[in-house]
Amino acid sequence: KKNIQIAIDGPAGAGKSTIAKIVAEALGFTYIDTGAMYRAVTYKAMQQDIYLDDETKLANMLAVSTIDLKPSAQGQLVFLDGENVSDAIRSNEVTASVSQVAAHAKVREQLVAQQQKLAANGGVVMDGRDIATHVLTDAELKVFMSATVEERARRRFLDNQKRGIVSSIDKLQEEIALRDKMDSEREASPLIQAEDAIFLDTTTLSIDEAAQAILRLAQEKM
Ligand code: C5P
Repeated sequence: KKNIQIAIDGPAGAGKSTIAKIVAEALGFTYIDTGAMYRAVTYKAMQQDIYLDDETKLANMLAVSTIDLKPSAQGQLVFLDGENVSDAIRSNEVTASVSQVAAHAKVREQLVAQQQKLAANGGVVMDGRDIATHVLTDAELKVFMSATVEERARRRFLDNQKRGIVSSIDKLQEEIALRDKMDSEREASPLIQAEDAIFLDTTTLSIDEAAQAILRLAQEKM
């Protein structure tokens, strides 16, 4: 069995993190949620009242920050300068602003370097937007996961409901579409399917079906 790298990219709410976690656990690999790192930077910048279009200030802030991803029973915990920010980085405020921060090349450079270090020994399932195209260009398996925006909004809605958060499907759909647009149209490493990535439409797949599909592809490479 080989310790391969598995890259999973796709738009918001396609089920990447849920499925990546299951795949990582089944293979005994490490799951790395790169979105959490962009969220942690955004959270800290908002705490410090840094203007989110100020690329230099954001890059300087990040240069003196530590972001640690620690595996846990629930998947992954996120620590920012030693503080557990796992829940704080999922707030609506952070979600609404993260694409603005992630658009800056100088922010991406630093996070990409950290991500490459984390994956250097293989045995990883990494999810994000630019993993196959920039972070792990030699990954043995690249998957681009998507679903219709309606279905992705519906999943977020049910997800929120489970966590006791009241939301509107229409509003969620609008927010998801806007974030996808910003992530796809930015200049620095936009969200795009890599040429050698396999497209997986999860619109009509269950979580388990999608995970099994990726596990089958992974077995072929191991
Ligand atoms: O995956 P998640 O929805 O938590 O990602 C939050 C945001 O972080 C994305 O909308 C995107 O702007 C940014 N991101 C990115 N590159 C990655 C992962 C996330 O630009 N590899």
